[in-house]
Amino acid sequence: MKVAVGCDHAGLAMKNALKDILESWGHEVADLGCYCEDSVDYPDYAAEVSRRVASGEYETGILICGTGLGMAISANKIKGVRAVVAHDTFSARMSRAHNNANVLALGARVIGPGLAEEIVKVWLSTPFEGGRHQRRVDKITLLEG
Ligand code: RB5
Repeated sequence: MKVAVGCDHAGLAMKNALKDILESWGHEVADLGCYCEDSVDYPDYAAEVSRRVASGEYETGILICGTGLGMAISANKIKGVRAVVAHDTFSARMSRAHNNANVLALGARVIGPGLAEEIVKVWLSTPFEGGRHQRRVDKITLLEG
């Protein structure tokens, strides 16, 4: 898959680790920053990743900050993006199967690297179920105005 990743300073180490893991799994990864521990503003990176997912350039996006929350809030401002924070594998799976989430936000101050890897594995490998869920996702899209 073509995956765009982004982070702020709080998510830098986890983003770098996940980037290496994603590449080892054979995914094409675009690392859209940040690239050092200097303090930055998470909406800038959420926007960068989310715009590329919304445009179809990348199939999916992964954003990491301290909690995942600011990244998800920001990403969901971009039309066409359905971003979720998922800190357990069940939520990660359901966000794909039922909500067709296309951006995953993680909090590096909330979960450790092992769980983050498991969540990403489940998230990337779970297809959208469609059917009745498509109708509901379509209604989410209508809410974008
Ligand atoms: C940065 O200190 C922190 O606020 C940010 O990483 C994130 O947790 C925001 O939602």
